Order: sequence, then structure tokens, then C-alpha cells
Amino acid sequence: MLQALKESVEYLKKKIGNFEPEVGIVLGTGLGGLVKEIAIEHSIMYSSIPNFPISTLEFHSGKLIFGTLKGKKVVAMQGRLHYYEGYSMQQITFPIRVLKALGIKHLFVSNAAGSLNAEFKKGDLMIISDHINLQPESPLRGLNDSELGPRFPDMSQPYQKSLIEAGLQIAKSENITCHKGIYVAVTGPNLETKAEYKYLRIIGGDAVGMSTVPEVIVANHMGLPVFAISVLTDEGFPEDLQPFNLEEILATAAIAEPKMTSILSQLISSL
Ligand code: HPA
Repeated sequence: MLQALKESVEYLKKKIGNFEPEVGIVLGTGLGGLVKEIAIEHSIMYSSIPNFPISTLEFHSGKLIFGTLKGKKVVAMQGRLHYYEGYSMQQITFPIRVLKALGIKHLFVSNAAGSLNAEFKKGDLMIISDHINLQPESPLRGLNDSELGPRFPDMSQPYQKSLIEAGLQIAKSENITCHKGIYVAVTGPNLETKAEYKYLRIIGGDAVGMSTVPEVIVANHMGLPVFAISVLTDEGFPEDLQPFNLEEILATAAIAEPKMTSILSQLISSL
């Protein structure tokens, strides 16, 4: 792992010269629009970076974008990797380790998720305050490299409290409906049954999705503070479950995108 990391970082440092990103951003569903706000200095294809996994969904479209967002130097991952695509947990999270090695001090993550909480409606945003991991494996399984982090990392506060509060405050001042809640990570790619949505609600989930948690575990392993936000694209309410409709989900995410972009960019500029 360390050797692979070193190769990727050396390659990227040659490309970006003295550009030192302070903030890493994983552009999940609902945050693609943030790229338009970045003054791009370097854009590097995943496929050209040694040891980087290439997305099966968007072959060739995965890119690392280096630039300035509201005065902050950022590196954004355009194109995220999911466990359901067939990668190992270590492959999915390798880019997060690379970003940390490039010097980022904060990680921002977005995703699309299904609401489990009857008060959280389709189109609302939810800042993640905690999570429940129902994915089958930890990205930290296997030999631990103590240069990267401890064998038994603490997870008592995986999402930075001050950023959660600041994010909620920004949402309030912008009149954006934004909740705080618990994200449950499942493997996918199939959606949940009614019985499963009911179960996820009973165990304490407010939203369910297929990403984010592996990246957050690895960030915590390395002591990297995290902020994560979901756009609630559908309602997993067992009493009135509608068949999953990808087009509708993407349309809902697109409507919420400017709200998400506004919160994230203000939060990043306030760091
Ligand atoms: N379940 C799992 N993942 C999702 C959902 C959902 O309802 N909506 C968006 N991603």
C-alpha cells in the first residue's frame, strides 16, 4: 500500500508542481455543479494515475480536478467508485489516501440517498451526523500500516461537529431545508425491499445509500476531519413505497444541486 501510494503521489506532484490542496472533495450525486465554481488549474484523468482504480460506470470520465474554490485550494474527485461495481474496499478508498498524502486537511463528501425518516422529504438535504455501516467489509481489514493510522481507529465522532453546525447555520441563512441525521450504508446495487426500509428505520437510520462510509472510515483512520451531506432523492417509506425510478432520482438530485453547491462552497470558504 505505502509503495503504491508513493508512486501515485510522486506522479501527481510532478503534474501539479507546487500546487498544495487544502481541501478534498468527493463529488457524488448532487454536487457535480461545484466543478463550475472551481477555477481549474490541473485536471488529471484517473486512468493516467499509477494504481488508481478506473470507474466501470464512467470509463475515461473519472478525473482529479485541482483548482481554487472561493480562495481555497481544493482537489475534487469527479467520478466516485462504489463497492457494487466490484472493487475491493481498499481500491475504493485508495484515492482518499492519495489526497491525504497530497496534504488535504479536510474531506467533503456528497451523495444521493433514500429518506427513511417520515419528516425528511424528497428533495431535502441531510447533513450526516453519524452512520451505520451495513456494507460487508471494512476498508481497514488486513494488515495495518501504522504510518497511515492506528489498528483500532476511534469512530466516536466520525463527522466533524463544528462543520455540521456551520453547515446547518449556512442552510438556515439561505432558507434551505437541511436536516441532520444518520446515514446507513448498504452494498446495493439493488434497492431495498419494503421490509428492509422498515428495518433500516427501526435500527436508527434517517437515510440509506450505497457509498460514502468506506471513504469516511479511511479518512478517520488517517485523522482527517470529514463533512458529508446527502441529497434525499426518494422516500423509502414502507407504507407507501413507489417503484424506484432512476430518471426521477437524477431529476431530484439536479434540482437540489444548487442548494448543495451553495452550502459546500460557503462552508469551504469559511475554513
Ligand atoms: N436506497 C439506497 N440507495 C439509494 C437510495 C435508496 O433508496 N436512493 C438513492 N440511493
